[in-house]
Amino acid sequence: MCGIVGYTGGQQAAPVLLSGLTRLEYRGYDSAGLAVRNGEADTVVVKAEGKLKNLSEKVDGGHALKGLCGIGHTRWATHGAANERNAHPHASADHNVIAVHNGIIENYVEIKEKLTHKGYEFSSDTDTEAVVNLIDYYYKKYKVGPIDAIAKTLVRVRGSYALAIMFKEYPGEIYVARKDSPMIIGTTGDETFVASDVPAILNYTRQVYYIGNLEMARLTPGHAEFYDLNGDIIEKPLTKIEWNAEAAEKQGYEHFMIKEIHEQPKAIEDTMKAYVKMGDDGLSTIDFSEAGLTKEILADVSQIHIVACGSASHVGYVAQYVIEDLARIPVRVEMASEFRYRKPILDPKGLVVVISQSGETADTLEGLREAKAQGIRTVAIVNVKGSSIAREADHVVYTYAGPEIAVATTKAYSCQLIASYLLAITCAETKGRLDAGQVSDLLMEMGTIPGKIQTILEDKERVQRFATGFAAMHDAFFIGRSIDYAICMEGSLKLKEVSYIHSEAYAAGELKHGTISLVEEGTLMIGVLTQSNVYEKTLSNMQEVKSRGGFLMGLTTAGNYTVEDTADVTFYVPKTDEHFAASLAVVPLQLLGYYSAVARGEDVDKPRNLAKSVTVE
Ligand code: G6P
Repeated sequence: MCGIVGYTGGQQAAPVLLSGLTRLEYRGYDSAGLAVRNGEADTVVVKAEGKLKNLSEKVDGGHALKGLCGIGHTRWATHGAANERNAHPHASADHNVIAVHNGIIENYVEIKEKLTHKGYEFSSDTDTEAVVNLIDYYYKKYKVGPIDAIAKTLVRVRGSYALAIMFKEYPGEIYVARKDSPMIIGTTGDETFVASDVPAILNYTRQVYYIGNLEMARLTPGHAEFYDLNGDIIEKPLTKIEWNAEAAEKQGYEHFMIKEIHEQPKAIEDTMKAYVKMGDDGLSTIDFSEAGLTKEILADVSQIHIVACGSASHVGYVAQYVIEDLARIPVRVEMASEFRYRKPILDPKGLVVVISQSGETADTLEGLREAKAQGIRTVAIVNVKGSSIAREADHVVYTYAGPEIAVATTKAYSCQLIASYLLAITCAETKGRLDAGQVSDLLMEMGTIPGKIQTILEDKERVQRFATGFAAMHDAFFIGRSIDYAICMEGSLKLKEVSYIHSEAYAAGELKHGTISLVEEGTLMIGVLTQSNVYEKTLSNMQEVKSRGGFLMGLTTAGNYTVEDTADVTFYVPKTDEHFAASLAVVPLQLLGYYSAVARGEDVDKPRNLAKSVTVE
């Protein structure tokens, strides 16, 4: 949801900023802009509508802009159309203050009105311009330095922000502030960087500071000084990023999405390795001590609410079936955007589990805060270390997917599944529903998932041929029951978000209560059948569709060959414990989405209108 970068040091800033923005484009890509300053000269601002390459062409890859200090932005429009006028950076009329912003200023209308009365004029429709002018207003009115002017502004604004700001009277310096929007600061000793996310600066440094909520910083070449809202200096530790720049490169794959689909076996292994240990008795056990999640804590849990958005919520639906079946703890899955506004009734002995790749999704973060405000214990399943959700949750179970760049999630989803199976098994053990031997057997079976995914990937050309043949379709429906229905939700989202083919996931038994009226000659219906207790039932529902002219694709487990009597085409995944079926069945569906989008010539890694990290509500 918008990407920001900043640089001050000894290199020409513009190419560094553009290279950083390239790695942040997944956060938004409807317009982009740079502000670069050459010494004491006036700052030059250049913006372009559309993807980053338009901006890059305009400034000759950055070479047309001279200066060692600058800020840049790639936008996902919230306030104001996606055009050059609304693109960042935004400047006060006299260019005293120039800034880029990620987030939303909720009370920008009231700030704009106040400033208009004071004589300020606005040249865009954005909320950002209100903040820029408010900083300028306080800076001049109280004749204070940048930190004090920003602090006064932060007290007045409501909403979320990561801001990088340049002041006319402070050449070579960048000021930053943050609340509920991600931001990291990197340094090499004689250069300083700021960015919305780590990949933007990994080519230059792996030493970063995490700036906290309602904190500010002053960046000079090689140095970062942090302040709280009172303007008092605060100390921050430097953290070393464990992964390297190659992890965020395509490495020969055509798109990040297909690269990340192939990284799933390794990502799952890494996530399991963090929590699954071999005991002296030769039995595998789960060790959640890294998360501080003891068996005593879990033994007492009366109910679980899973709160998440998008694919992470689809993991929640799988987890619901697995936890309820294994541990017999009631589980409710909540879309985070709904959770906090319906005044949820939470049992004091309940557990709220939030799931998020980025750890920054605004709705999920607010859901977490709602749970904490009610005094409920919270567990976060998160991929990004140091993210807001990771910092605020009581317990953090990290997934080890590494950096995920494609907007459509694949490997992070798969690792979230693994983390939730581990949680389910631990709960079941503490509730006395599984003994040590059964736990070990389940863990051994989980250990076979990476190899089985590899087998599916080796046959990816078959999915590719099918996807290419069906790429011109207008609609697709996914049906299944229980865990298969949860798999359908993710398969359907993968297809629609990257290929733009309209698709819906339906509980197989529910289709006939209305939606089946959409089936006509040739409508693609994908039936997912990995759960033996509902296999025959789903098959009957597929038959109902076939009778009405639908074209049936079956996705099932090896051995279920009777599907072929009903389906027009069938894909098989290897056998596994049925609780873990989503981990395998999702892979052909990820491939289906990917190859359909490729066949239609869509921008797979950056689908229209989307952003990977949604830091606005
Ligand atoms: C966005 C992304 C989805 C993702 C969702 C939740 O909508 O496009 O792929 O599932 O946010 O993101 P999170 O980072 O919280 O997992």
